[in-house]
Amino acid sequence: MSDTREQLHKAAHQLIETERDLAGEFIPTGVNPLPALEPPADQPEAAAEPDVPQLDPDAKAAALEKIDVEEVRCCPKCVLSRSRNNTVFGEANPDADLVFVGEAPGQDEDRTGRPFVGRAGQLLDKMIHAMGLSRDDVYICNILKCRPPKNRPPAAEEVEACWGYLVRQLRIIRPKVIVTLGNPATQTLLNTRTGISRMRGQWQKLALADEGILDIDVMPTYHPAYVLRQYTVENRRRAWNDLQKVMDALGLEGRSGS
Ligand code: URA
Ligand code: SF4
Repeated sequence: MSDTREQLHKAAHQLIETERDLAGEFIPTGVNPLPALEPPADQPEAAAEPDVPQLDPDAKAAALEKIDVEEVRCCPKCVLSRSRNNTVFGEANPDADLVFVGEAPGQDEDRTGRPFVGRAGQLLDKMIHAMGLSRDDVYICNILKCRPPKNRPPAAEEVEACWGYLVRQLRIIRPKVIVTLGNPATQTLLNTRTGISRMRGQWQKLALADEGILDIDVMPTYHPAYVLRQYTVENRRRAWNDLQKVMDALGLEGRSGS
């Protein structure tokens, strides 16, 4: 076979594998049982209550809806407001213990106004399912609420303009754990330049005292779009190990054997 044909053959093979695995379950077969889990990070003594009232679930839903409808949908604060079709605020359980934060809407999300509904979203759904949860149990949002043209990475001034919305979402929801998906989410929330391959799998703390956010545990992991691009057993195992730490911290059983 010529080089080109060989490359094509390989690419087709990878695509078929990806489709097959996506049609099945997220947890890679043949790699369970997984290595022993590390104990969850030491939980510090309960910190003093931040100066933000604890809302009941209905009040949380109403507070989020208000920011979405009254501010984000008509937000003019960065250039992305000119090219978006829809804003993508975030969705699902306003009282979730677990929040996933991605990068920014892609084409499917911009079209529908919903986070993680394209191919990466399908893999995220499988990851959530493997944890023994459904989308309705968690909250899913992004650093940016509008799609960057051609899915380019978020620009610093866009992140800065949009940051306040995410902070307010987190302050209302007050999750126990945040999973950051990929580099932009991890580096923005944790204010670090360290890359995801070094950050992933290690518990971090989000503490924005000035914003009334105290000590939320953060688990960085790969972005599902990266896992799809590099669909190796190794990467899936790493992502799954990261999620198992989260399950451990939240006392979740998961769907064993799936
Ligand atoms: N990628 C993201 O980071 N967020 C989405 O909502 C969809 C794809
Ligand atoms: Fe506003 Fe954020 Fe959209 Fe920029 S990305 S226009 S700051 S909602």
